[in-house]
Amino acid sequence: MCGIIGYIGNRDCVQIIQAGLSRLAYRGYDSAGIAVCHEGDIDLRRAHGKLENLISLISVDPIRGNTGIGHTRWATHGRPSESNAHPQKYGKFAIVHNGIIENYLELRQELIARGHQFTSETDTEIVVHLIAEAYEGDFAQAVRKALKNVRGSYAIVALCADHPDEIIAARQQSPLIIAKGDAENFVASDVAAVLAYSRQFIFLDDGDIARVTANTIEIFDLDNRKIDRPVKEIQWNLAAAEKQGYPHYMLKEIYEQPQKITDTFRGRILEDEGIINIDEAIDKLEFEKCHRLQIVACGTSYHAGLLGKYLIEKLARIPVDVDVASEYRYRNPIITPNDGFIAISQSGETADTYACLKIAREHGAKILSICNVMDSTIPRASDATFYTRADPEIGVASTKAFTTQLASLILLAIHFARKLGMIDADYTRHLLNALRAIPSQMEAILESSDDVRLVARKLLRANSFLYLGRNVHYPIALEGALKLKEITYIHAEAYPSGEMKHGPIALIDDRLPVIVIAPKNSTYEKTLSNLQEVKARNGRIISIVTEGDDMLTRVSEHAFTIPECDEIVQPFLSVLYLQLLAYHIADLLGNDVDQPRNLAKSVTVE
Ligand code: F6R
Repeated sequence: MCGIIGYIGNRDCVQIIQAGLSRLAYRGYDSAGIAVCHEGDIDLRRAHGKLENLISLISVDPIRGNTGIGHTRWATHGRPSESNAHPQKYGKFAIVHNGIIENYLELRQELIARGHQFTSETDTEIVVHLIAEAYEGDFAQAVRKALKNVRGSYAIVALCADHPDEIIAARQQSPLIIAKGDAENFVASDVAAVLAYSRQFIFLDDGDIARVTANTIEIFDLDNRKIDRPVKEIQWNLAAAEKQGYPHYMLKEIYEQPQKITDTFRGRILEDEGIINIDEAIDKLEFEKCHRLQIVACGTSYHAGLLGKYLIEKLARIPVDVDVASEYRYRNPIITPNDGFIAISQSGETADTYACLKIAREHGAKILSICNVMDSTIPRASDATFYTRADPEIGVASTKAFTTQLASLILLAIHFARKLGMIDADYTRHLLNALRAIPSQMEAILESSDDVRLVARKLLRANSFLYLGRNVHYPIALEGALKLKEITYIHAEAYPSGEMKHGPIALIDDRLPVIVIAPKNSTYEKTLSNLQEVKARNGRIISIVTEGDDMLTRVSEHAFTIPECDEIVQPFLSVLYLQLLAYHIADLLGNDVDQPRNLAKSVTVE
């Protein structure tokens, strides 16, 4: 979400920053901007939309300087527009920011009370005001003082017109690197932006504040203690670095999931109080009082919705219907002002989902969306939006968008259940503990990617797969089958395990891989019997089981394991194996994993 860059040296910084921004564009392209120190002032150019708009603007209205900063935006706070574009400037200062300032509303109110006026809707603008307010001649000290008031995540790079010979960079939970040059230095969100100029990098850590001049780099903590960070030599080529060293965006996004789940939970889980901290706008909708909730979505988002039904009905006991948007919109659905409508969409632009939202609106239902892309069409048309915070998803096959949707739905389910008194404080705490453990459990599973590849190699020649799951694992079976179809082009279908005897068992033979998701949970024993039936017909079973489950491991050609954990956490872990399996099969087949044939990332037509 957002790419940032800074340059200080003897060259014309505008060219360098433009080139860097073009390499950062995958991080967002809602708007772009550049600020430079020039003759005791700061010159600023910003443009709504893609980087090309900024480049055209600068070609007709040039700026020049040797010290500058740039930004390419993926909108979070405030819709994409020129005024919300970065750099945000106030007085002698300008900053670019990647992250979310969580207490920005509170800080903004305080600043307004002290006479500050704001020109944007961004959370970033408060930071530049705080810096200006704290400034007493020492630029780095002003940034340090300002950041002490700020809660949330940030990578920032700041300029001050009084100090054209330095830039200040700071990091808290958003990536930031410094690249060392010869009588010039660079700061950027990632290595890709500046790999053309340097191979020597310093990776800043949380709490670091760096004062960078053309010839020096000094790093301090928030209490002004000096810190040494190693300089690392990076051998990546430019193209690979765009994917942060991963061969494909999809693989990178699979690996990002533990961090993205952490981001989805950040500030929303108040473990000590045993409650979910939900946006006021969402809370005000009082979905827990609705007679029924109607979830509508497409593809992977629909699968998240199916799991949402299990979670909300299990915990909050509110009836939930889930529909594929393209079906819902044409069947004269029954929806009333007593219903709550939930649209789930990564892009926020899916035409069918949006059409259903409009139908629900016409019938007077309250509308909540669960989306990733800030200020896209569906959030703008909703009464409130729960943002998943997955950052831009570039791989066409959705991975981190899915698990962050699940994380969002779990939080909502617990919130509704708590408000209705369906779960007590102790059980809520137990659930929140279980949620907190998910990222590290995911990390551990991702370490077994090589094992998954070995299994994938054995399955390359199969021309059809069957995925089975029950209860919370049925939506995961559907999602696993979808991932396989999308990127390997091999047919796959998913069934609830209990449906086997009603037809699909006829498919079983020694050539059909059956992927069974069967960790220990409330339906484990039923699933076990279904598996014995597959085994008795010589089926090839690849299973996902709880660690130590010898029984299922014995009947499986291969068993992947997940740790013992609450049933509601299991889908987060089991789906990783299915994403990796699809990825490795597709890769071994030589397919274009990131841009599978016939697909597009955002389906804006019917
Ligand atoms: C599958 C995939 C699609 C999307 C679907 C909905 O990997 O990406 O099935 O999930 O097109 O898109 P959004 O969530 O943007 O509405």
